[in-house]
Amino acid sequence: MKFFVDTADVAAIAELNDLGMVDGVTTNPSLILKSGRDILEVTKEICGIVSGPVSAEVVALKADDMIAEGRKLAEIAPNIAVKVPLTWDGLKTCKVLSGDGFMVNVTLCFSANQALLAAKAGATFISPFIGRLDDINLDGTDLISDIRTIYDNFNFTTEILAASIRNANHVTQCAMIGADVITAPPPSSKASPRMC
Ligand code: E4P
Repeated sequence: MKFFVDTADVAAIAELNDLGMVDGVTTNPSLILKSGRDILEVTKEICGIVSGPVSAEVVALKADDMIAEGRKLAEIAPNIAVKVPLTWDGLKTCKVLSGDGFMVNVTLCFSANQALLAAKAGATFISPFIGRLDDINLDGTDLISDIRTIYDNFNFTTEILAASIRNANHVTQCAMIGADVITAPPPSSKASPRMC
């Protein structure tokens, strides 16, 4: 299972990358805002540190605007994965950008059928949000399991990127179920990393 780190903190990414723990990075507009830096500048720096996929999220809501924004983000570096929301416009954007040859991460997935649509639209990654399902008294890891079964049934190559990881048990469960990737924030304490 691959580990992506969910942050725009360049120092934390570099430290974990040196440890061999970083297979990729996910960012979102709130994480970029927290870094206090320009999105293009910080994303370019991250892409220079990590050789794996670096997700950069569009903020536009309409497909035409998302496509233009996604193409601009994809110009930053060859390892950019354009992150789009799982809306109808996001799926249209996914179809176009994946057709252009770019990696696309379809995020904010809360159901297995949504994951099926994303795979059919050519997503490189699907990001189901485990923790947020747990927040509403559902079992987020059940969703990972359902998506794994569906993708395996039909040989979809879209990678399951388990997001909204909140605790160590989520990591273990995702590894057992067969999620391809988990993304989690850097450990808040070096003495007791959140994932261990
Ligand atoms: C990943 O791409 C998401 O930004 C992240 O996992 C969301 O996690 P949260 O539900 O803890 O905000």
